[in-house]
Amino acid sequence: MSLIDVVIIGGSFAGLHIAHSVLHDVPDAKVVLINPSTSFFWNIAAPRILAKPKAFRPEQYLIPIKDAFVGYRPDAFEFLPGTATAIDPVAKSVTVTPNEGDIKTLSYDYLVIASGSTTSASTGSLTGTSIPFKPSNHNDIQELIKAAQGHIAEAKEIVIGGAGPIGVELAGELAEAVEESGNTGKVSITLVSATDRVLPMLKSSASSAARKMLEQKKIKVVTSKRVIGVETPVEDNPTWTVSLEGGDKLSADLYIPTTGVTPNNSFIPPQFLDNDGWVKVNSEMRVQSADGSVLPIFAAGDITNNSMRLSFKASEQAHVAAANLKAAIVGGKAIKSYNQGDSIMMVVPVGEAGGTGQIFGFVPFSFMVKLIKGKHFFIEKAASIVHGKA
Ligand SMILES: Cc1cc2nc3c(=O)[nH]c(=O)nc-3n(C[C@H](O)[C@H](O)[C@H](O)COP(=O)(O)OP(=O)(O)OC[C@H]3O[C@@H](n4cnc5c(N)ncnc54)[C@H](O)[C@@H]3O)c2cc1C
Ligand SMILES: *[C@@H]1O[C@H](CO)[C@@H](O)[C@H](O)[C@H]1NC(C)=O
Ligand SMILES: *[C@@H]1O[C@H](CO)[C@@H](O)[C@H](O)[C@H]1NC(C)=O
Repeated sequence: MSLIDVVIIGGSFAGLHIAHSVLHDVPDAKVVLINPSTSFFWNIAAPRILAKPKAFRPEQYLIPIKDAFVGYRPDAFEFLPGTATAIDPVAKSVTVTPNEGDIKTLSYDYLVIASGSTTSASTGSLTGTSIPFKPSNHNDIQELIKAAQGHIAEAKEIVIGGAGPIGVELAGELAEAVEESGNTGKVSITLVSATDRVLPMLKSSASSAARKMLEQKKIKVVTSKRVIGVETPVEDNPTWTVSLEGGDKLSADLYIPTTGVTPNNSFIPPQFLDNDGWVKVNSEMRVQSADGSVLPIFAAGDITNNSMRLSFKASEQAHVAAANLKAAIVGGKAIKSYNQGDSIMMVVPVGEAGGTGQIFGFVPFSFMVKLIKGKHFFIEKAASIVHGKA
C-alpha cells in the first residue's frame, strides 16, 4: 500500500491539530511535521513568564511535541525538527534545513502551511535583544526565555511600545514583578500608545478601566504618541533613546516593541501571498493559486490572510482545514468553511488581581478577568494543544 504524504510546516496551535486529525482519521496517510523547536511554547502566558520567572515551571509552558504522537503507527508519523526553506508547487516538494544533518527535500501529496507569525520583539530586530513572545527558527526557546528574563530583571527604565493586549498585559506583569522584588520606585515603566487610549480595539470603558489599573501600578501611560525611532546606545550614553512623534524623547535601558505581527513567509512562493505577505486562502482554507488552478495545499492560523490572529481562531481554522484536507484525500468535496465573524473576544489581565477585556459586547468585571485568565493565563491548556485536543 502506498502512503499519502502529508507535509505540515509549523507545529503550533494550527499545525498540531491538523497533524493529529489526519493521523486519527486517515489510515493510509504518512504525516511529516516540520518545526524548529522540539517543544511547543505556551506563548499566551509570555507576558507573565518573561516578567516573573518563578510564576510557572518551564515544563508547564514548554511541552515536548514528539511525545504527543507516540500513539500512532510508527510509519505514519515523523517529527522533523528543522525549518522549511522553500516550496516547489510544481514538483510538489518542500526543502528543509533540519536542526541536525543535511538539507532534505520532501515530496508531498498534500501540504499544510501553518508557519504562523512573529513579532519584532521576538526576533530582536530593532534592539538586538530577543524578548520571545514567539519561538525563533532555532531550537532555543528555553535559552531565549532565560536571557530575556535576565535582561528584564536588570532593567531600570523600561519603555513598552504599543498598548494593545500584549503591551498592557506585559506592563501589568512587569509592575508587579518590580513590586514583588522590593524595587518599587527604583524601576520606571512607561507604556506608549499611538492611539488616544490603551486597548483601542476594545470598548472605551475597557480602555479607561485598563488605564486606571496601569496607573495604580505606577506605570506611566503616554497616549497619542507614535514611537518614530529607537536609537542605539553610544559610548557616552549607554541607554536607548526612544523618539516619539512630536519631539519627545524617552531614555530606556530596555525597549520592548509590542505592535504588529509579521508573517513567517520567507519560504512561501510569492504567488501565494497577498500584498502584506499573508497566505491567501478561501473559506475552505485552501491556498489560492495565481491562475485559479486547485492546489493540494491548505493553510491555517496566523499565516493566512484572515485578519484575527488569535490562538482560538488558529484552532478554528485548523478544524476547517483538517476536515477539508481529509475530505480531499478520500476524493470528496470540502465539508466545512471558516468565517472569522466580527465579534470581539478578548480578556486582558493587568496583573494577577484583575483586568479588563471584551466578551462580545460586554466588558467583564475585573474579578472575572482574574478568574478566567489572570490567575494562570490558561496554562493548563498547553498540553491539550500538543495532543491535538483543542
Ligand atoms: C505575547 C502574545 C500573547 C498572545 N496572547 C493571546 C491570547 O491571550 N489569546 C489568543 O487567542 N491569542 C493570543 N496571541 C496570539 C497567538 O499566539 C497566535 O494567534 C497563535 O500563536 C497562532 O498560532 P499558529 O499555529 O497559527 O502559529 P504560531 O503560533 O505562530 O506558530 C507557528 C509555528 O510554525 C513554526 N515555523 C515558522 N516558520 C517555519 C518554517 N519555515 N519551517 C518550520 N516551522 C516554521 C514556528 O516555529 C512556530 O512553531 C498572543 C500572541 C502573542 C505574541
Ligand atoms: C519567522 O520570521 C522571522 C522574520 O523573517 C524570523 O526572524 C523568525 O526566525 C521566523 N521564525 C521561524 C520559526 O522561522
Ligand atoms: C484572502 O484572499 C483570498 C484570495 O484573494 C480572498 O478571496 C479572501 O476573501 C481573502 N480573505 C479575507 C478574509 O480577506
